[in-house]
Amino acid sequence: MQLVEELRVPGLFTLVLLGHALLSSGAAIDVNRTSEQGEATITGISIPVPLFATSLKNYADPAQECSPYNYPPVANQMNSFPAIGSKASILPNDSAALDKWKTISGSIPTSIGLKTQPPGGDYPANDPDCWWTYQQCTIPKQNGIPPDLEDAPEPSTLGYGFDDGPSCSHNDFLDFLQSQKQKATFYFIGSNVASYPLEAQRALADGHEICIHTWSHPYMTTLSSEDAFAEIWYFVTFSFNCNLSMSPQIQMVKVAVGVTPTCWRPPYGDIDDRIRAIANALGLQTIMWEYDTADASVNGQSITEDTVENNYISFLQTAGSGTFNSTGTILLMHELNNFTMSEAMKYYSQISNAFQYIVPVGVSLNKTQPYLENNYSLPTFEQYISGTLMVNASASPITSSLSSTPSPTLGQSVGSTNSASRVAMEFRLAHVLLTALVLVFTCRP
Ligand SMILES: *[C@@H]1O[C@H](CO)[C@@H](O)[C@H](O)[C@H]1NC(C)=O
Ligand SMILES: *[C@@H]1O[C@H](CO)[C@@H](O)[C@H](O)[C@H]1NC(C)=O
Ligand SMILES: *[C@@H]1O[C@H](CO)[C@@H](O)[C@H](O)[C@H]1NC(C)=O
Ligand SMILES: *[C@@H]1O[C@H](CO)[C@@H](O)[C@H](O)[C@H]1NC(C)=O
Ligand SMILES: *[C@@H]1O[C@H](CO)[C@@H](O)[C@H](O)[C@H]1NC(C)=O
Ligand SMILES: *[C@@H]1O[C@H](CO)[C@@H](O)[C@H](O)[C@H]1NC(C)=O
Ligand SMILES: *[C@@H]1O[C@H](CO)[C@@H](O)[C@H](O)[C@H]1NC(C)=O
Ligand SMILES: *[C@@H]1O[C@H](CO)[C@@H](O)[C@H](O)[C@H]1NC(C)=O
Repeated sequence: MQLVEELRVPGLFTLVLLGHALLSSGAAIDVNRTSEQGEATITGISIPVPLFATSLKNYADPAQECSPYNYPPVANQMNSFPAIGSKASILPNDSAALDKWKTISGSIPTSIGLKTQPPGGDYPANDPDCWWTYQQCTIPKQNGIPPDLEDAPEPSTLGYGFDDGPSCSHNDFLDFLQSQKQKATFYFIGSNVASYPLEAQRALADGHEICIHTWSHPYMTTLSSEDAFAEIWYFVTFSFNCNLSMSPQIQMVKVAVGVTPTCWRPPYGDIDDRIRAIANALGLQTIMWEYDTADASVNGQSITEDTVENNYISFLQTAGSGTFNSTGTILLMHELNNFTMSEAMKYYSQISNAFQYIVPVGVSLNKTQPYLENNYSLPTFEQYISGTLMVNASASPITSSLSSTPSPTLGQSVGSTNSASRVAMEFRLAHVLLTALVLVFTCRP
């Protein structure tokens, strides 16, 4: 008996390793990233756990989810955008951007100077520019600019959202949100949308709300007004569409996803009345937050993973003590990496217990038309809380342009869903075979 066990274990190990090799190499060959549906199935290699289980659990493999890919509708447009990850400036030949800047520049205050980080130096203590970074000012001191939104107006409601995506390894997280029937607001970075357009498309197709988080995530108050404009303009220009004619308004989300957002969040919350004026002139509502998990700031020194845990716990205590009984709130979290997304999943059920409602920020505002395009809607707050989480989202530009009206000039592939399900089927087949082999091997007398 003892002998048999000893013989079995190394044999099993070899088999499992062989299975891994087969599955992971199969995946590398078969993954076909031409649609958000296909992209959404990529969760990396599969590992049988426990060894005798008949169903196999998928573990996300960031290395595979994050392998770079070429998506022609976006890749073919990249010379009309700033380099990925670089600070934006208006491209010299971009006449649409130049014209737009010309029409709005007159309304941008010139009396407000550029800031340095961190705040300090000779900036006046009375905060004349309503600089959030200095003292969390959200009510502009200049006339004609609306205040920032920092809470969810509905009672006992959390305006649920995540900064810095799309993350290339977000499939587990988005699957989780789907399983919880939970929608959120995603504040996407334009450069990330350019790198991972299918991930951005998935967020829209899943019914989440998309807001702008600039092209390259700079401290906006340190930029010239023209460059600050470009940081927003090029995000918007890069919209989530396969209709490549440039929107006259705002642009990367448009190319990649097909909608033009009307909300934004300044990176680091770094906004003053000059930056507010630029965003306002581009039709964007500024969404801030009241509470911060600091999940993106873990540096192993002053901010540790324990700090983030404590922030979540203290936020839950604040909610539990009735603080949001009459007005809801907004909590800062990130779709940045495995840690930030894992924390969000870990605390989701406790947050659900602490609030009556968890909704995208736009839903808490009854903002039924979140994009410039009028053919994509969000439910009202009442609709959402009574179970209507999406309103004719199937009519969204992505779904329709990928499934029914592809532009032949873009090399856009149709029917990639079939290919994706083929991949999924091959995975399942491989799983079954591997499991069968494991069972045969281990059950052999
Ligand atoms: C700007 O010039 C680049 C080449 O330098 C070209 O590829 C791109 O299409 C031009 N963009 C516009 C908006 O004309
Ligand atoms: C593409 O967008 C332009 C302007 O946004 C619009 O006039 C045109 O009808 C659209 N084309 C398609 C095929 O959707
Ligand atoms: C908040 O609402 C809960 C549930 O209705 C109630 O039990 C609690 O007493 C309220 N707390 C405050 C401070 O109003
Ligand atoms: C992701 O984070 C969770 C929780 O911190 C951890 O258990 C898991 O091993 C991490 N996964 C990867 C791939 O790093
Ligand atoms: C949203 O609509 C509901 C129902 O009409 C209303 O009670 C609520 O005050 C609205 N909320 C906002 C923020 O407008
Ligand atoms: C989406 O729904 C709204 C309201 O229900 C309706 O007015 C609109 O025509 C619909 N749009 C499409 C493209 O179906
Ligand atoms: C939605 O509107 C945009 C621009 O107005 C258009 O390009 C797109 O084809 C429309 N999609 C649907 C499904 O009507
Ligand atoms: C990916 O899928 C599309 C649509 O099914 C197909 O046209 C294309 O050839 C596939 N590409 C690869 C590399 O398999």
